[in-house]
Formats: sequence, structure tokens, C-alpha cells
Amino acid sequence: MTTPDNAPEASAAVRLRPEIVATAAYKQGKPAPADAFKLSSNENPFPPIQAVTDAIAGSTTNRYPDASAAALRARLAERFSLPVEAVHTGAGSVSILAQLIQAVAAPGDEVVYAWRSFEAYPGLVTVAGATSVQVPNLPDHRHDLPAMAAAVTDRTRAIIVCTPNNPTSTIVTVDEFTRFMAEVPSTVLVILDEAYAEFVTDETAVRGTDFLAKHPNLVVLRTFSKAYGLAALRIGYALGDPYVLNAARNTAIPLSVTEPAQRAAMAALDHDQELMAQVDVLVEQRDRTWKALTEQGWEIPRPQGNFVWFPTGDFTEEAADLFMDGGIVGRALGEGIRVSIGEPESVEKLLAVSAEIVAKLPTGA
Ligand SMILES: Cc1ncc(COP(=O)(O)O)c(C=O)c1O
Repeated sequence: MTTPDNAPEASAAVRLRPEIVATAAYKQGKPAPADAFKLSSNENPFPPIQAVTDAIAGSTTNRYPDASAAALRARLAERFSLPVEAVHTGAGSVSILAQLIQAVAAPGDEVVYAWRSFEAYPGLVTVAGATSVQVPNLPDHRHDLPAMAAAVTDRTRAIIVCTPNNPTSTIVTVDEFTRFMAEVPSTVLVILDEAYAEFVTDETAVRGTDFLAKHPNLVVLRTFSKAYGLAALRIGYALGDPYVLNAARNTAIPLSVTEPAQRAAMAALDHDQELMAQVDVLVEQRDRTWKALTEQGWEIPRPQGNFVWFPTGDFTEEAADLFMDGGIVGRALGEGIRVSIGEPESVEKLLAVSAEIVAKLPTGA
């Protein structure tokens, strides 16, 4: 078997696409040591509710799932007052993102997105053979939407807007998004990644569904992985124009949304109130954590996802080690650390280590 250490001479090796060889594989959050809290993947700390466990247990495994996820799509269509064809499901919203990018972008084409943002975006664009155009976030860690709109060229096929943005937890406002959509040509696909929409409490934040009727070039991405706690089952959905969603369906791997996932998602929707009460608990914990961090002297953007962003700058690696030593496994991402809002018992530990780190931070970090 070939390993990175015994890679064959390039001339004798299978001819791979060089840009794929050069791509780093998707990095999952680190596993937590026994006594630490794993706050590196923005997961929901609540265990599954009984109705979800029952739905999974009641699934059959010898038959293929319904490839069109008809029942679930009908439920979502009703919920968002959209036709069924305007709803598409995928094995996690990241699968739909891949489908959409492949449907619009090929070699020579560009996909614009903010940076820093969700770490899966660069890889998905590369796999499609297209080119990433990364637009730096503003100093306050929010998307610079005017600069993103200005980055559109004849080669641009898609723009990804992430709100709340992973990892900075900042939102895009309705006003910003209204101006942005007015500027972006209708021939360019806009993907609004709302993986954390259910955690948003800021009333000025954009809600993508309000823009669908006016903008057929907009697709809204949502997931059952976060607020609904179904990350392991891999199920997400897209809302948008059937013309675009049919193209995504054409690039999809057939039958990849499993029956347990479809059934669990239906059960989760049936118990929406119970699950949204859990979200309320996490939101309260998030806001309390942010307030305490601010009082400690951190300049942390006001979080709207189920995670907070520590702008640790050049001190990031040391800070991540200190968090780890203190029993908090966050995610170090270049110039900062993302820490998920997890078990209530994690807060005290988090605040103890963060107080220690802020005291050591070089000023201006
Ligand atoms: C911004 C963003 N979009 C999409 C996803 C993917 O979620 P899913 O589990 O639905 O594939 C994530 C997961 O972390 C995310 O942070």
C-alpha cells in the first residue's frame, strides 16, 4: 500500500489530478480526552429524544430508501409554504453544497466566498475543478458583502454566503443581503448557508426564505445536524428554484439520503417544540458565555450560532494547547479558535481557561 512516506515516483504512479493530490482532506474536530469537553465540531450536546430513537429503530435496512424523500420533502414544503419541487434533501447540507457547486462551476469558473468561513468550501470548489475567490471578512469578523459582490466577474458561477458564519458566529443583516442581491447578476447562483439558522436571535439577521420568491438565483441551505441533533445521520435540505435544484439532483449520488435519516428528520419535525426548547437552553448558555468572556476582556464578535470565536491571532496554537490542557477541545483555525456551546458543565471550565489565556494574550490579538 502507498503511504505519504513511500509515494511512488510520479512517472510510475496512477495519474491523479494534481489539485486533488494537493488538497488537504476535510479535517474533523479532534476527539476529546476522557475528562475533556469536545467542543470542536459545533455539535448539539443533547442526546437524541425518544421519538428520534424510535424512528431509527423502526427503519428497515434491507430495502433502499425512497430516493426522492417524498414524505420529508412534503413536510418541509408545507412548513415553508413552497412547492415540493422547491425542496431538495441531501446526506448533510454539505452534500447539497457539493452538488450545487458541481452543477454550476467547472474548470475556468470561479466561486466566491468570504474568508474565513466554513472550512469545507475550498475543497468542494477544488473538487469541481473550479477556482476559489476568497474575500476577507471585515475587521469585526463579519462578511464584507459589498466586496463579495464586487468580486463577481464573467467567470463567477456561484457565491456562498454563510450566516451565521462558521467560525466567527456573525450574521448578515436583512439590509446587507437586500443590497447584495440587488447587485449580484441573476445568472450567478447565490448559496445562503444557514446551517445555524435556528440559533439566531438577532432580529436584524437575514432569513433566506424571505428572499426566495424574488430571487430565483438564490438557494437556502439548512441542516438537521445542529439544532435538530441529527449530525450522525447526515441529513440536510435546500430550498430554492426547482430549475436549480433539479440540476443539483442531477449531480447527486443516488439514494444517499438513508431511510433512518428521513424517518428521524420527520420525527424531529414532529417534536419541533421540544427540540427548539433545547435550542433556547443553548442560546441562553451562549449569551451568558459571551457576556462573561467580554467581561474577561475578550473582543469576541457577538455570537449567533452555537459557537463562539476567539480571535487569538498569532497566539492561536498556544491558546489551543492551553484550552486542551484545561479540558476544552476547541478548533484552532488559523487566526482564531472556535469553541462550540456544549454541555452546561463545560461553561465553568471554559471560562476558567479563557481567563487564563486572555491574561497572556499579546495586546491587539
Ligand atoms: C456553515 C456550515 N454549513 C454546512 C455544514 C454541514 O452540515 P451538515 O452536517 O448538514 O453537512 C456545517 C457543519 O459544520 C457548517 O458549519
